[in-house]
Amino acid sequence: MTLLDSRSEETTLDDCVLEVDGVSIQFGGVAALKGVSFRVHAGEVVGLIGPNGAGKSTMLNCICGFYRPTAGRVRVDGTDTVGTVPHLMRSRGVARTFQETLLIDDLSLIDNVMLGRTVQRRRDLLRGVFTLPGASRHYREQRERAAMLLEEYGLRTYTHTAAGSVPYGVRKLAEVARAQFAEPRLLLLDEPAAGLGPVEAENLADRLASLAASGIAVVLIDHNMDFVARAADRVVVMSAGALLAEGTPTEIRQNQLVTEAYLGRGRGNRA
Ligand SMILES: Nc1ncnc2c1ncn2[C@@H]1O[C@H](COP(=O)(O)OP(=O)(O)OP(=O)(O)O)[C@@H](O)[C@H]1O
Ligand SMILES: [Mg+2]
Repeated sequence: MTLLDSRSEETTLDDCVLEVDGVSIQFGGVAALKGVSFRVHAGEVVGLIGPNGAGKSTMLNCICGFYRPTAGRVRVDGTDTVGTVPHLMRSRGVARTFQETLLIDDLSLIDNVMLGRTVQRRRDLLRGVFTLPGASRHYREQRERAAMLLEEYGLRTYTHTAAGSVPYGVRKLAEVARAQFAEPRLLLLDEPAAGLGPVEAENLADRLASLAASGIAVVLIDHNMDFVARAADRVVVMSAGALLAEGTPTEIRQNQLVTEAYLGRGRGNRA
């Protein structure tokens, strides 16, 4: 039995970290999401795929509070989160990366990674503001952890380089490191492998699978089905704002509707 098989078997309904229930959103006359439902459990990577404009990034924005759905529910660990602003979602254990990276260009990679936890814990904030005993030790420990994470992502040489001067693939990985630094319960990744070579992408897929095996829930958007299949236990397919199919990577590869959805937009070889 592979690691992925054992993770799937251990998953139960009680482990549900993310529940998306009938989520719709309308932008003017455009229905970007039409009653989409799916669940993600602790210890599971769920791949979210679909042709351009399917609504994948919009779905992440609804989950993490950037957009407020017109209808439907989002629950994280059983708590309804619709209407919760993004920075409070962080304190509920939700961390994400962006399709267009959001790093601060003038800051080094290590400082960007450390922002993943800034002001996340009231105790950390008070320590810093009032220079309470242990503040500098705490800061040093956090910095060591950030440096270690960058090393794990193969970014050690860029630790002190300004984010604005590193290659695109490095920025994407640094965002994943920053999200992991927050020690999330739910990790939402929007095309994290963009700009990576095949070996780097495989390494990232394996990292995400083992990260999930440590107990967190991961939603992974990508267009590269080989990458998604390597990391994900299950795949949710969206097309034109609706849920089209759901299944194991093997089932999804064989699904005629999925193939047609991609072929319909001239991208048949990407799923
Ligand atoms: N803020 C917005 N205002 C208006 N329309 C929007 C907004 N955000 C998303 N949309 C529309 O919602 C639809 C889905 O877009 P979205 O970016 O979620 O697709 P996607 O599946 O992430 O595509 P891609 O693979 O290209 O990243 C598109 O038609 C897009 O134009
Ligand atoms: Mg997108």
